[in-house]
Amino acid sequence: MKFSNPTQLTSAEDRLQLEWLIDAENSPEDNTGSDVIAGLSQNPKSLPPRYFYDDLGSQFFEQICQLPEYYLTRTETQILEKYSLDIAKITGPCELVELGSGSSTKTRLLLESYAEIAAGLRYLPIDVSAGILETSARELLTDYAWLNVRALVSTYEVALGQLASYPRLVNYKRMICFLGSTLGNLSPAECDLFFSQVSGALQGGDYFLLGVDLHKSKEILEPAYDDSQGVTAKFNLNMLQHLNWRFEGNFDLSNFAHYSLYNEDLHQIEMYLKSLKTQKVKLKKLDLNVEFEAGEMMLTEISRKFDLSEIKQELQKRGLMPVQSWSDSKNWFGLLLCRLQQV
Ligand code: AVI
Repeated sequence: MKFSNPTQLTSAEDRLQLEWLIDAENSPEDNTGSDVIAGLSQNPKSLPPRYFYDDLGSQFFEQICQLPEYYLTRTETQILEKYSLDIAKITGPCELVELGSGSSTKTRLLLESYAEIAAGLRYLPIDVSAGILETSARELLTDYAWLNVRALVSTYEVALGQLASYPRLVNYKRMICFLGSTLGNLSPAECDLFFSQVSGALQGGDYFLLGVDLHKSKEILEPAYDDSQGVTAKFNLNMLQHLNWRFEGNFDLSNFAHYSLYNEDLHQIEMYLKSLKTQKVKLKKLDLNVEFEAGEMMLTEISRKFDLSEIKQELQKRGLMPVQSWSDSKNWFGLLLCRLQQV
């Protein structure tokens, strides 16, 4: 790949590659609904959080990021504003891979810092939502003439599995970025598997940049997941609408309510949908009938909060050696740079 010369501008179109690693029709990638059947058949019931993110759900999430109570996005942005250039200077020229890139808003801070230390930059955003991926890639390319984008419509697992075989740029390291504390939505076992997939996708000397939400009081955490404008409630309930559409279901959203709490023992927010009455629901395409009792809670998401030294130990087990970490003045959010050890 050639980098565009800023004095001889190539069009944004020439600098964009969009690739589907998963079937666009079937995103989320497994359309059999086996995970929905498994979650609704167990006691207590649960639903996989990946079903939050249909188009409307992704829009609700963007709105959540702007809410006064949802400090995560704001705080991570402040850290990046302050330290992105330090990160770029530590790693030197890197090709940036972003998992779950969404609108790439925070990533702009990193891209601009890397542009200060290298002549050109290749960015590989990865997201299951093709629409948001393409729109934000085009916006970035319009704004940054020095940027090349290879956008991958994919889940993390599929993309991480393929990354190692992608041709590398001479004199550039690779840095995988996983921002926004999305790690918190994985169970400890999923987290460990994810770290091993990240190590497997990198070469010795490459980097991993991780943003994590840190332990704090429930007085701050609970409103962040039950905001006064009710956007988080809409985001949670929309999952049922998404399942209705995807699997020909008949969930009546007015018969469920958003409920969330901070589990202080497990250091995690737990988000539920509470059945407001005894009811039966059918998901025709899955040939599934489900009964709910009045007051029954169905888990839709965990959002774990981390201790930086504990997470560093977990990363080291997978060869991801902590280089430096940064936080905000209140120690609410952490950004951690790791380097894959050379073997
Ligand atoms: C995507 N993820 C990091 C969000 C979180 O904070 O766990 C999802 C979310 N759920 C409710 N609000 C935001």
